[in-house]
Amino acid sequence: MKASSNTVLDFLNFVEGQGPQPMPRLMDKILLKCRLLTNAEAGSIFIVRGRGRSRRLQAMRVQNDRVRIRAKGFEIPLDAPAIAAYVGATGKTLRIPDVYKIPKNRPYRFNPANERAGYVTRSVMCFPLKNFRNAVTGVVQLINRLPEKAAPDAAPIPFDTAQEELVLPVSRILADLVERADMADRIRAKNRELQVRNRQLQEGRARIAALQAETEDAFMLSISLLARAAEIHDEETGNHIVRVNEYSYHLARMAGQPAEWCDEIRYSAQLHDVGKMSVDAAILRKKGPLTPEERHEMNSHPVYGHQILAAAPRLAMAAEIAQGHHEKWAGGGYPNGLQGEQIPLSARIVAMADIYDALRSARPYKPAFSHEKTVAIMTEGDDRLDPREHFDPALLDLFRNHHQEFDEIYRRLHD
Ligand SMILES: [Fe+2]
Ligand SMILES: [Fe+2]
Repeated sequence: MKASSNTVLDFLNFVEGQGPQPMPRLMDKILLKCRLLTNAEAGSIFIVRGRGRSRRLQAMRVQNDRVRIRAKGFEIPLDAPAIAAYVGATGKTLRIPDVYKIPKNRPYRFNPANERAGYVTRSVMCFPLKNFRNAVTGVVQLINRLPEKAAPDAAPIPFDTAQEELVLPVSRILADLVERADMADRIRAKNRELQVRNRQLQEGRARIAALQAETEDAFMLSISLLARAAEIHDEETGNHIVRVNEYSYHLARMAGQPAEWCDEIRYSAQLHDVGKMSVDAAILRKKGPLTPEERHEMNSHPVYGHQILAAAPRLAMAAEIAQGHHEKWAGGGYPNGLQGEQIPLSARIVAMADIYDALRSARPYKPAFSHEKTVAIMTEGDDRLDPREHFDPALLDLFRNHHQEFDEIYRRLHD
């Protein structure tokens, strides 16, 4: 009793000395310790894999002091007539003095074709590793017991009960170690699998983000095409709508609006005259003064624009700009004659941007004005424009202090 518990402790120290270890290392240590205890020249250690009829032994480690063997991972079905398979299937220990002299009536045999590199197997001891439920979790096969203190080329001798008693007490503990290590290995494999799946998920998210970016590009393209389509019969052409986007963006930034809001006005401003699509082309192109009916139709373009844009949630700001960009701060604008903060800020901003650009551009009835003249008209007024009537005074202050940026935008994007 004492001897066997010492053996167990010694064994545990040997294989678990450095704490939990990866399966292959643990297998090597267990096999080596079994061979040292029994003076076996070679050996293999197997784990039982699979369930039911697919149960098989997987070779985890093969050791041989005489010849180099690189053979692991091979598998033996548990119902094969091999020694290790018999032990794995029955849970019985086998001691065979000479594998070449196994009686024909045994349910297992030795296959000489499996001898490697001219090695000759003689004596074998093969024992199961059983867990606490008495199920076989592995098999250790020890080969060619050598006599102690013998010549290097001494012939193998049979394993006897003394060797069996040396290794059997530890077999149950080994089985638990193997089971635990196998479990840890499987958890590691599961973790790797989860990491792979996580990576795939991230890649999926990146693909969705790319798709969203594509959709965003398509959205931006289609609204700029819409804005372009609207100016087909209009006097304002070329980069006018692009410049209005930029003036509006800068005014919004200077007014301290949130970044998202500024980004939104930057693409919404260009749609301010989209309602002109619905106005009769003959009226849009008419050179002389308009009749009252024609003027009324022309001044309905903010209403038409709002109708076109209001259905799309992402064009809500564009819709309010289209509707409000001809309103005046003091009232008296169209189509609703709103005043002050009744007019949405976005529309107040675009109104200033639109007028600045109209003054800078040549029209059939006026030449292009310089930046200086345009600033003078917008801040001090002329016979057509009264800044106090037209503009939000806060925005006008911003313009007065930062008008240089308007000139820069005009120069950068002029036609
Ligand atoms: Fe307009
Ligand atoms: Fe315009």
